[in-house]
Amino acid sequence: MSSSLTYVPVGPLSSFTSTEPFTCQKVRITLENDKTKSLAVFYRPDMNQFWAVNNICPHQGGALSRGSLVDIEDMGIKWGVAIVCPLHGWAFSGDTGECDTSAYVVDVHHVRVQGSGEDAVVEVSREVTNKHVGGRRRDFGGVAVE
Ligand code: FES
Repeated sequence: MSSSLTYVPVGPLSSFTSTEPFTCQKVRITLENDKTKSLAVFYRPDMNQFWAVNNICPHQGGALSRGSLVDIEDMGIKWGVAIVCPLHGWAFSGDTGECDTSAYVVDVHHVRVQGSGEDAVVEVSREVTNKHVGGRRRDFGGVAVE
């Protein structure tokens, strides 16, 4: 990942540790232009991996932080995870932000863990990391339908 990214903290790594299949935390970050943006930060304990996307579904504004995380599979081969919107079930790749049923895309942000042990902190990039992915984006002014 590019070293030109800047990061903001989400919270301690321990707050994501769970016996649940996945956990999600909603975080509001401040962008370089001083606007704020709500992100949904997902964690899968079985993969020890994080994904962060815009919390606002581009369809009708559903809160993706209230959605679920599922495997993307084809012919029994797992090749990624998708975040499924709780309102109408559109699914977005956690890696590319692409939707499986429309031309819409959600912003993806990079996630990293800084430190170790009890001091480990989860951070997300202020910058969108999937700008190269084509598709329609919208966030309804940053207000989610909860
Ligand atoms: S608002 Fe997300 S699928 Fe409709």
